[in-house]
Amino acid sequence: MIPQETVDKIIEAAQIDEVVGDFVSLKRRGTSLIGLCPFHNEKSPSFNVSVNKGIFKCFGCGKGGDSVRFIMEHEKAAYPDALRYLANKYQIEIAEIESSPEAQIVNDRRESLFIVSAWAAKFFQQQMLQTEEGKAIGLSYFLERGFREDVIKKFELGYSPDVWDALTQKALSEGYKMEFLEETGLSIRKDNEKVYDRFRGRVMFPIHSFTGRVIGFGGRTLKTEKSVPKYVNSPESEIYHKSNILYGLFFAKKAIREEDNCYLVEGYADVLSVNQAGVENVVASSGTSLTVEQIRLIGRFTKNITILYDGDPAGIKASLRGLDMILEEGLNVKVVLFADGHDPDSYVQKFGSAAFKTFIEKNKQDFILFKTSILLRDAGNDPIKKAGMIREVVESIAKIPDSIKASVFIRECSSLLQIEERSLISELNKMRMVKAKKESYPSQPSARDQHPDEPPADLHMEPETSSLAETDENQEKEIIRLLLNYGHELVHWDGITDTYIAPYVISNLADVVFENTECRLIIDEYKEKLEAGELPSDQDFIKHSNRQIADMTISLVSSPYILSENWYAKRKIFVKDETENLRATILGGIFHLKKRKVEHILKNIRDEIQQETDEDNQAILMRRYLQVKEVEKGISQFLGSVIIK
Ligand code: UTP
Ligand code: MN
Repeated sequence: MIPQETVDKIIEAAQIDEVVGDFVSLKRRGTSLIGLCPFHNEKSPSFNVSVNKGIFKCFGCGKGGDSVRFIMEHEKAAYPDALRYLANKYQIEIAEIESSPEAQIVNDRRESLFIVSAWAAKFFQQQMLQTEEGKAIGLSYFLERGFREDVIKKFELGYSPDVWDALTQKALSEGYKMEFLEETGLSIRKDNEKVYDRFRGRVMFPIHSFTGRVIGFGGRTLKTEKSVPKYVNSPESEIYHKSNILYGLFFAKKAIREEDNCYLVEGYADVLSVNQAGVENVVASSGTSLTVEQIRLIGRFTKNITILYDGDPAGIKASLRGLDMILEEGLNVKVVLFADGHDPDSYVQKFGSAAFKTFIEKNKQDFILFKTSILLRDAGNDPIKKAGMIREVVESIAKIPDSIKASVFIRECSSLLQIEERSLISELNKMRMVKAKKESYPSQPSARDQHPDEPPADLHMEPETSSLAETDENQEKEIIRLLLNYGHELVHWDGITDTYIAPYVISNLADVVFENTECRLIIDEYKEKLEAGELPSDQDFIKHSNRQIADMTISLVSSPYILSENWYAKRKIFVKDETENLRATILGGIFHLKKRKVEHILKNIRDEIQQETDEDNQAILMRRYLQVKEVEKGISQFLGSVIIK
């Protein structure tokens, strides 16, 4: 049996266009996608897919349904098998639950918690809308704050009467068990005796799971005394885990996908007001600091987060570090700061929806630049503070997995901070080096000693097809990186008299054509300059007028390893620094690229052999194959000997 939670997750993740698209070629027409129906024979397309609605529909044969239905129909699969197919496609792990009696009990328990929570939400709602006390206190509070009735209904807001045990008594009288009332925190038992309601006299915000089931509550007091906590929240329970819940996600997810952006606010009230203004892609972290789980949750719908802050400088500074986590998850973070004591709720209530949207558009700033400017203001002219802040900014940049993106930030920060890109890059390199080492060699920095003469066996044994699926981009980038970093260094290797590394590399790769456009442009320009008797420097390319070349260069010179990290790590060879054995690094780079190119030739010959029907021709091709194979072997052996030295 697949647990309900997982089923929900699978259905949520499955995108109809992607699921259908694996079997039917779809073309966009208006708001939907259209193709030839896989379920009946047709010449002109009548098979429609609506991404917004998450469904397919054939106007020819009438078949229709969601992603799961499509797989069931198309693959003739049973429901659970269709789910497993989708789980596999979206890499969702299924921890199947056995329906043992014990498991059944756990499942029933969770279900009971869901049921009593849903019941309580209804109870609070009915108390607010249908009792005198509820209308006079709860509903009028929300209306006075400017919440419309449709929004109050949509979010299922409610009111908990100001009585010791109104909910508890009603629940018990309707047959709900005390055990579940306590576990969900709706009721509190004191000293094993007296039982009372947790949320007495508060307006209620039900919290929904992302499939829309009520799993907890926030209750706001209407009193102004400082001694009363403003919000009381449900405790953690088997169905309510604060760290992976975002308030409002259930109502926001569709808009988040459509807008490809998620607004993150702090409070319940912010979510409501922003929603009311027609901006539906908004969720709240509910006052706690953001967790990785919450970020990943958002990341399933969009890679773009815009944080709406109310402007309390101390609070902002404290939260900056936590936000690096979002960068680490590979998401793009923008920040909007509300000033003058406003939060998103008060701003939109006071100035209206249009002004709110304009404000966001005008004031959104990229997180890294936002952080830089805040810290910069803080540091003033204090050189020590300033050095510290530079480290902090670069630390954030180092968290960004996409090195091209990181390089763009390096450039922008360099102008903001008025510091040379070079120094930022070298700082960044140091951090990445430390990080890479931590990740590859957690506890044994002397791994090299443990494998003193084990040959790098996998050089020869790599399955011939596996690595060929991808491009040679990494190997090409590695060459460019080596050229840019070390091209101007003078060496004398292999008895050759002094030579610069650049011509050495270039002449060794004379016969190689680069596939990656930027790499090709760089190497061609490099060659041209060399031929004109100049020795190009990395600055020539960092400051290049072609933006793509400049970005590529910056990303390459700011990443310590592209390839070498892999081979060294794979072989558990510890290199403190690639310059320690520059010859191995350079030759490694050259011959890895050559090896890739030879592998491509081998693959082409293999394909030709397969297609060739004439036996004589096959024999010729075979001979050629073996010759090239010899070359490949030579390269591998050479690589093995070079890297070990
Ligand atoms: P806010 O004080 O900004 O709440 O706290 P709010 O939602 O804007 O409420 P109003 O506008 O004063 O009515 C932000 C969030 O922090 C959590 C709540 O989730 C709240 O929405 N919080 C705050 C608590 O959990 N407990 C508290 O005592 C205060
Ligand atoms: Mn508020």
